[in-house]
Amino acid sequence: MSREINASVVNISGRQRMLSQRISLFSLRLVCTLDPSQQEEIRQCLLDAVELMEKSHQGLLYGDPTLQLPGHPSKEVHSLYFEAPHYVNQKVQQYIQETGKLLTSPNENLTLDNPHLNYIINAASGELIQALDAVVTQYQKESEIQQKAFEKTLVELYNKSQAATQFAQKRNLEIQETLTQLQQAQAHLIQTEKMSCLGQLLAGVAHEINNPVTFLYGNINHAENYITDIVELLKLYQKYYPTPADEIQDFIESIDLDFLLEDLPKVTNSMKIASDRILQIVLSLRNFSRKDEGEKQNTDIEAGIESTLLILQHRFKEKTGKEEIKIIKEFAKLPAIECYAGPLNQVFMNLITNAMDALEECQENRKNCAYTPTIRIRTELKYPDKISIRIADNGPGIREEVKERLFEPFFTTKPIGQGTGLGLSISHQIVVEKHGGSLKCVSVLGQGTEFLIELPVRLNQLCPDKVTGATQSQLR
Ligand SMILES: Nc1ncnc2c1ncn2[C@@H]1O[C@H](COP(=O)(O)OP(=O)(O)OP(=O)(O)O)[C@@H](O)[C@H]1O
Ligand SMILES: [Mg+2]
Repeated sequence: MSREINASVVNISGRQRMLSQRISLFSLRLVCTLDPSQQEEIRQCLLDAVELMEKSHQGLLYGDPTLQLPGHPSKEVHSLYFEAPHYVNQKVQQYIQETGKLLTSPNENLTLDNPHLNYIINAASGELIQALDAVVTQYQKESEIQQKAFEKTLVELYNKSQAATQFAQKRNLEIQETLTQLQQAQAHLIQTEKMSCLGQLLAGVAHEINNPVTFLYGNINHAENYITDIVELLKLYQKYYPTPADEIQDFIESIDLDFLLEDLPKVTNSMKIASDRILQIVLSLRNFSRKDEGEKQNTDIEAGIESTLLILQHRFKEKTGKEEIKIIKEFAKLPAIECYAGPLNQVFMNLITNAMDALEECQENRKNCAYTPTIRIRTELKYPDKISIRIADNGPGIREEVKERLFEPFFTTKPIGQGTGLGLSISHQIVVEKHGGSLKCVSVLGQGTEFLIELPVRLNQLCPDKVTGATQSQLR
């Protein structure tokens, strides 16, 4: 943006005023000086002042790049120069002419009553100075108006740029939010898909095993009764026919009948126990794979944890180079909890798997010291309306920078292919969003980690957030 009234215009118009005074002063001194060399000096000064006044005057009206004057005065300034009452142009020209005449006057005419001198002195203290003052004032006024307009434009530009920045920041936030939502949705989908595959598989296996096992379990009692009857019959035979034929006697000895009769009840009993166990496993598998995403139901939390442990059982066992993981269960008597049992089992599965992974990693580092990898699962009725489940391990603990990102979708410290980094974010979603509970992590490096789940007994009441700080005693 070009500014028409620049600092030079205001300065030079002010200088015109000063020059007019200077010219009048030198004119007076020229007349009063008798010394010819001084007179010559004064003439030169007068000449310089007049020339400068002339040049400035032309520059102000028509522009002069050497003086940085743009010319093109406003209508108001123009009228000051060329119209009544000031006629500045005419007065300046006249003043310059009169000064020229004084300068060319012969020496004998350089007296105090010289008409040119009188004109100059009168104009410099009267009409001319007033006219030049009017011009300076007008230039100053225009300069201020222009400055204000310039500042206003600056403020407007600043406001516009602020608004644009805010708009961009808002859009940026919206994009970030959408991205997070997308990531969460994707994480949820992957984990749901994973769990639903596992659920389907378990449900299929449970269904297939269920029929033959029920058949087996149902018939074992009959078989036991039949065997008891046959043994009874055998004993009756022995009572009433104490000396059987040689062939029978030989067979009794070859099968060691006494041992057989003693061992038989034990065999049938262990068969009963084994089939009972298979039935329990089937029940657990079905419990775990319940397809009740959308349905809340009254559930036994302990049964959910047990069935999860059962599914993961193979991983607790001692393996080459790895100690057996000890499981300590401290279950309180809990009421049935109104919850979504399937997703909640998924949470137990994620937390126990993480604990096992941590313990296995820890064993690698503690090969040479006495160490029992342990997972402790504790349930508690906190208030009549709230329960807590703690899943703790004596693994390596979690570093601060990992702890800060634990619940972020896709955050994992495990090698590619081993962890997707979804377990905790999904668990958090299930506990907090689906159940109105809370999920907290307390961890001490080198000692272990505990995850604390708090759940309301009834689904619509939200859990108060009462867990603070990590203390070592909480881990023992
Ligand atoms: N009990 C624990 N002890 C030590 N570190 C843990 C424990 N639980 C979780 N972590 C850390 O938190 C990270 C995130 O856990 P999360 O369950 O979300 O993902 P993941 O186990 O890596 O992968 P995924 O569960 O999807 O297979 C883990 O990679 C691990 O570094
Ligand atoms: Mg995990």
